[in-house]
Amino acid sequence: MLELQNVTKVFKPRRRPSVTAVDNVSLKVSPREFLVITGRSGCGKTSLLNVMAGLARPTSGKVFIDGMDIWSLDDRQLSALRKEKIGFMFQVPSLIPVLNIVENVMVPTMFTTGRRRLNAYDRAKKALADVGLSHKMESFPRQLSGGEEKRAIIARAIVDEPPSLVADEPTANLDELTEKEIMALLQRIHQAGTTIVLVTHHPSLIGYGTRHLTMSDGKLPE
Ligand SMILES: Nc1ncnc2c1ncn2[C@@H]1O[C@H](COP(=O)(O)OP(=O)(O)OP(=O)(O)O)[C@@H](O)[C@H]1O
Ligand SMILES: [Mg+2]
Repeated sequence: MLELQNVTKVFKPRRRPSVTAVDNVSLKVSPREFLVITGRSGCGKTSLLNVMAGLARPTSGKVFIDGMDIWSLDDRQLSALRKEKIGFMFQVPSLIPVLNIVENVMVPTMFTTGRRRLNAYDRAKKALADVGLSHKMESFPRQLSGGEEKRAIIARAIVDEPPSLVADEPTANLDELTEKEIMALLQRIHQAGTTIVLVTHHPSLIGYGTRHLTMSDGKLPE
């Protein structure tokens, strides 16, 4: 369960006017939900996801993951919680160019402890099979098409089998058919029991979720 209480995120660039990217947002995401948040470019979607997933500290307000007030934790506790609970698909391209695909998918396992460190290679292979990318395991990121790159990024996000996944524009720059394939893949991951929060400016993705909200000017409807 993910909960935001009156979360605000203000950016204060030096010698520039400050920007309220997230404006007093309260939100509850239930387990097994597939929440789609749409809104135009600049309305605050990435900022909201980053605060929700423990990557950026809110200016005010609270974020709870399974009842834990995540911004009251110290850095080590927070990164441990993040690794345990959340998989990420970032908006910006984020595969490491000098690692091949299976190595890229293994990266998150290197920062975990306990059972999640075990069999990293086999689990990465399985994640790649799950996203239909077994045949590109030994390829490098620059050798992948846009859709294949997204699949690799999904595999990396699910390799540790997190209970929830946040996806920021997972279908950016894809053709219509490939977009459908990627969304079908996310639906499958959702049906297997993963909670998903997806943000996008593509209204075509609304129908894939179990709930839809529109963000505008940093605000979400209550
Ligand atoms: N690090 C930052 N410093 C200053 N302003 C920022 C920073 N990050 C985001 N912003 C501003 O916050 C607002 C929201 O940005 P954000 O990236 O969250 O929007 P978005 O909805 O994800 O847009 P897009 O659909 O283009 O990805 C924008 O006005 C942006 O310029
Ligand atoms: Mg964004």
